[in-house]
Parts: sequence; structure tokens; C-alpha cells
Amino acid sequence: MNIAILGLGTIGSGVYELLKGREDIKVKRILDIRCWMDGMTTDIGDIVNDESIECVVETMGGIHPAREYALKCINAGKSYVSANKLLISACAEELSAAAREHGAALLFGAACGGGIPYLASMAQARSIDPITSAGGILNGTTNFILDKIFSEGVDYSEALQEAQRLGYAERDPSSDVDGLDTLRKLILCCAVGFGKLLREEDICVSGISRLNDADIQYAKKKKGLIRLVASASQNDAGEIEAYVLPRLVSEGSLEAGIRTNINLARYSGERMGEFTFCGQGAGKLPTASNILRDLDAIRLNPASSMLPEGLISAKPANKCELRFYVRVPKEKAGALNGFGQSCEAQGDCVLFETKPMTLPTLFEALKGIDDKFIMIL
Ligand code: HSE
Repeated sequence: MNIAILGLGTIGSGVYELLKGREDIKVKRILDIRCWMDGMTTDIGDIVNDESIECVVETMGGIHPAREYALKCINAGKSYVSANKLLISACAEELSAAAREHGAALLFGAACGGGIPYLASMAQARSIDPITSAGGILNGTTNFILDKIFSEGVDYSEALQEAQRLGYAERDPSSDVDGLDTLRKLILCCAVGFGKLLREEDICVSGISRLNDADIQYAKKKKGLIRLVASASQNDAGEIEAYVLPRLVSEGSLEAGIRTNINLARYSGERMGEFTFCGQGAGKLPTASNILRDLDAIRLNPASSMLPEGLISAKPANKCELRFYVRVPKEKAGALNGFGQSCEAQGDCVLFETKPMTLPTLFEALKGIDDKFIMIL
């Protein structure tokens, strides 16, 4: 099978490296902004119009021009493998419809869980048993940062710089630390697992960029540590609970044992029970290896898709009540009037433990307060 790679950055060059010496899959063209070896081009037309190219691997990131390139390639009947969670989470309906119309495969295993064959497994499981929940620790960069902070006492920005140096972080690391990268992965989980497409703006998300020493000391006092967790579940009535938030996890829990950039990805089925995957959630060769899994799947089934037919748009209900730790500046503490179960003033902020409450209620109460840290207890 002849393929093309769009974007020769960290992941794209990992795919190129892993395919060296393979006779069954050959890289015929590479699109990038700079051409420095044979077969490279800056013109997508060279790939779209080359009938010998059956499949295109996109590792560029971003929505534009990735969306336009994806549609051109798929509309030309080429199968598409993408590691681009932003693109797939925003354009799943359009790309899936185009792929079905043109009999092309659309796979994106590397877009969630890095090297872990998680989405592929969930897509296969879905046809056997309805998926009831999905999620886990889905961002390598934040897990790396949190692990360094709690196990080595390293400073937040030092840990972030190291994650960037190791190639875990996104081009704009704020999408990692603010939880947006995890959010997009959660949208993919819901699309693949439940066949429901959620919008970013409908999901409650809070990241770790505001984590400070008071929060770290609070977690330690509770004999726990912090992990950024994505969670989605669907009940019998089809109502979805979905959020991305830091969670206080106890020492000795499975989540606490997830170190460095490792991801913990889970799904459950009504009858099959829960499955947990653990592995490299980011990085060049692990992520590239997941792309190679997708390419192998296409060789076996040239019209395979991770998205179910009849993908529909949905909004999370988020009716479930949870307890939270919330840190806010002293002058904003009134926002939690009536919601606090206990509170403690510390310096110029107040730390609350809330009563059980829904996420939309908490987010409404905290609207407009930027300097805050929220975690699930
Ligand atoms: N920035 C992402 C992470 C890369 O750290 O998990 C893999 O999706």
C-alpha cells in the first residue's frame, strides 16, 4: 500500500522511521512546509491526484488546512489516518460522512491515548456490547507534570519544560495544562463509544495550570495526590455525564500508580465489564506505532471506520452530584455561599470542600473567577 504523510513533525517523522524497510507499506509522498528530500511536496494536489496513493496519514495538527486536506483526500477515495484530535473532535460528522460516501477508511487511534490501542479496541467492543463509560488519564504532559511535582517536588514550570523537551506537549502547551487536549480526547471517546458527538463548549473542563502550593499541600494532607481525569458515562436513558477535571486520588490507587507520561484509558460495557489500558500516552514512536496499527487495519479492511454509522450530536446532562475541593481568592469566597461543607482561609485565598453538587451548578457559581483551582474529591 502506498501512503502519503501530511506533516513531518515529531509524530510524522516517527511514522516515516517505523515504516523504513517495510515492503507492504511505502511512503510515496510527504507534504510539509519545507521540502528537503525526494518525494516531498508543499502541494496537496500532488497527493490527491496521485492514484497510486491509497491512504493518507495526517500528523500536521490544527483544523486549517488539515480539514480541507482531509476532505480533498477522502473525496478522492483515499483512506485517512489521523493523529489530530482537534480536527476529528470538531469535524467528525463531516469527515465520517465523506468517508462513508467514498468507501474510504477513517481511523484515528493515535488521537487518543498516544501509543495505546484504546479507541480501536473500544470501536470493536461497541459492536458486541453497548459502551457505558469511557475515559481515564488521557494526557501525558499533565500526568508527567503532576507526577514530577508529587514524587520529586519539582516546580510546575520546570516539569512542563521537560515534558516539552521530551516531545509530549502540544505545540501550544496551554491546551495540555488547561485540559483542552484531554477534552478533545474525551469527545473522541464519546463519539467512538456512544456514537454521540459532544461539543467542547458543553463539557465542564478545568485543568492544572492554576495548581499552587496550597492545593499540593491539601492533597498531601489528605494522603493523596492529584491526577487530571476525563470521565464519560451513559445511562439507560441515553443521558451522558462528561467532564475533565483534576481528581484527588488516594496513594495506592491505580491512578496514583500512573507515572510519567503514562496514560490510563478505560471503557466499560454493559455485559463485558471494565477494561483498563495502560501505556505510553504521548511521544514520537509510541504514537507513530498506533498510526501503524491503523494502517495495518486498513490493509485488512480498506473501509474500516472508528465512528459508528448514525453518529448523532448530543449534550451532556451532568445531573450527577459530586463533592469538590475549590480554592478561590478571599474576596471571591462569597461565590460558594451555601455550597461549602467546610472552608479554611489560607493566606489570601480560601479552600473549600463542597457539599455534593452538580458540575453545572459549581461552574455557574464560579463563573468569572479566573484564579481558582477545582478538583473532585
Ligand atoms: N500532548 C499530548 C499529551 C500528546 O501530552 O498527551 C498526545 O496526545
